[in-house]
Amino acid sequence: MELVKITDKLLDDVVLIENESFKAPFKKENFEYELKENPFSKFYGVTEDNKLVGYIIFWITFNTSTLCKIAVQQSKRNRGFAGFLMKNMEKMLLENEVESMTLEVRKSNENAINLYKKFGFKEITIKPKYYDDGEDAIYMGKLYL
Ligand SMILES: CC(C)(COP(=O)(O)OP(=O)(O)OC[C@H]1O[C@@H](n2cnc3c(N)ncnc32)[C@H](O)[C@@H]1OP(=O)(O)O)[C@@H](O)C(=O)NCCC(=O)NCCS
Repeated sequence: MELVKITDKLLDDVVLIENESFKAPFKKENFEYELKENPFSKFYGVTEDNKLVGYIIFWITFNTSTLCKIAVQQSKRNRGFAGFLMKNMEKMLLENEVESMTLEVRKSNENAINLYKKFGFKEITIKPKYYDDGEDAIYMGKLYL
């Protein structure tokens, strides 16, 4: 397992994983925005045998942060890739003296909720009908102080 910085040439692989992972996937342009224009965005991937199998996007805005996205190729799930991405992200949060992270997750997304709980995130509140299809989000957070 190796951590890599996402670059232009990895974006097509990102989009393939994205499309099999989300009901309302980001388009390539959305990823290009995160890569080139959003000054707060950090975008990393995990590879196995030099092939991209997952990625994470998070935003550091001074002392706070937001987890934007994490996804792992369907056939590679349950093998620790997301945990590896989360661990590396948290290392960067500490290096940047970030004090907190928040995220939204679909109420039905048990795998992701378990992942976040494993990393110490706690439910803050429910955001009713947060998603376009009407599903509620669980708003979760973690303090690094
Ligand atoms: C959520 C997701 C990123 C997890 O990736 P993964 O590489 O399979 O996760 P890991 O193997 O690193 O597992 C880490 C932890 O996540 C939780 N988890 C992951 N898959 C799970 C499953 N099928 N059932 C229960 N818990 C699960 C567990 O807590 C697990 O820890 P454990 O192995 O000690 O029990 C992956 O399922 C995915 O890409 N889903 C689609 C995209 C998505 O929903 N992203 C999150 C919303 S932004």
